[in-house]
Amino acid sequence: MADNNTYVQENVDGNTEHSSTQPVMSKNQLKKLEKHRRWLESKAQRKAKEKLKRKLKLQEAKETGKNLGPSRKLLKSLKMCESTCKLKICFDLSLADVMTDPEFSKAFKQLHRCYSINRRAPAPLQLYITGYSDGTKQKMSKMSGCFNWDVNFNSSRHTDVFEKEKIVYLTSDSPNVVDELDNDKVYIIGALVDHNRLKNICYDKAVEDDVGHARLPLDMYFKFKTRKVLTIDQVYLIFLRLTQGKSWIDAVMETVPKRKGVEIKEDSDESAKQGESAGEADFVVENSNSLDAADNNNGSSCDISDLEINVTHSKEGEKIQADA
Ligand SMILES: C[S@@+](CC[C@H](N)C(=O)[O-])C[C@H]1O[C@@H](n2cnc3c(N)ncnc32)[C@H](O)[C@@H]1O
Repeated sequence: MADNNTYVQENVDGNTEHSSTQPVMSKNQLKKLEKHRRWLESKAQRKAKEKLKRKLKLQEAKETGKNLGPSRKLLKSLKMCESTCKLKICFDLSLADVMTDPEFSKAFKQLHRCYSINRRAPAPLQLYITGYSDGTKQKMSKMSGCFNWDVNFNSSRHTDVFEKEKIVYLTSDSPNVVDELDNDKVYIIGALVDHNRLKNICYDKAVEDDVGHARLPLDMYFKFKTRKVLTIDQVYLIFLRLTQGKSWIDAVMETVPKRKGVEIKEDSDESAKQGESAGEADFVVENSNSLDAADNNNGSSCDISDLEINVTHSKEGEKIQADA
């Protein structure tokens, strides 16, 4: 049987012939190409469906008085650099080339989600996006006008942007555990969707770069039914929630979907539940870009889990939280 990389050709009888001179695509490659073609073909349809969904949601919100977050006008006046929260999170795009196009698209949607949530957060984190090649930049520009985002962009790798001693690469494969959040450090999230194909890739890179690395303290507090690798947006959200004064337990439980089967360990430190864990004890930030009642569209307070994210949520998009 031919493997993925073997060139195969079917003759008229349907028999498979191997050929070293005629490089035709393997059946798997053809299948993938066809799937991608269908996905591209249905793009306009998916966009229209999402537009309609957003319109209906807006209409419903108007009728029921539901809060959809701050107005566009208010958002425009808020600047990330003015936030009282100085914690730095950097999304590393230097591994983008290892992703397939659909994986890259999912990774970008997760980045977009992080940005949209950060924009609306009362005290946004300081976000950086680094390490993108010209090709990646082009792909990102095609997907959205992201280079207008209120984020620090730098095409150089994080190792050239930050002092090495300040870097903590977040990776589930690290033997170290994130302890206290530190404003002097920069926490790197690998902007990667790989469906666990590329175990250790971020850890190996961090070791190669000779920078710090750490995993989230998930095994200290939780039993996981599935693997402890989270998505880009989940990791960002956990950090945001920690800066808002949540304990590790609350931050993780409010972020990770139930289907991941996370359970709090019975012997886990009770103090974590009380909001006194090392992660956030020193780290409650005041609201700088205060989205108080008067600023909100309809005057009610705004919960990040309810936020309308300005991303085209295709069927694929709706699954973004599951794609690590
Ligand atoms: C989908 S994961 C990428 C998995 C990839 N195979 C790797 O080597 O990390 C996306 C990013 O989220 C962060 N991440 C996910 N789970 C984590 C955990 N348990 N602890 C620390 N960081 C995590 C890492 O920065 C990781 O690069």
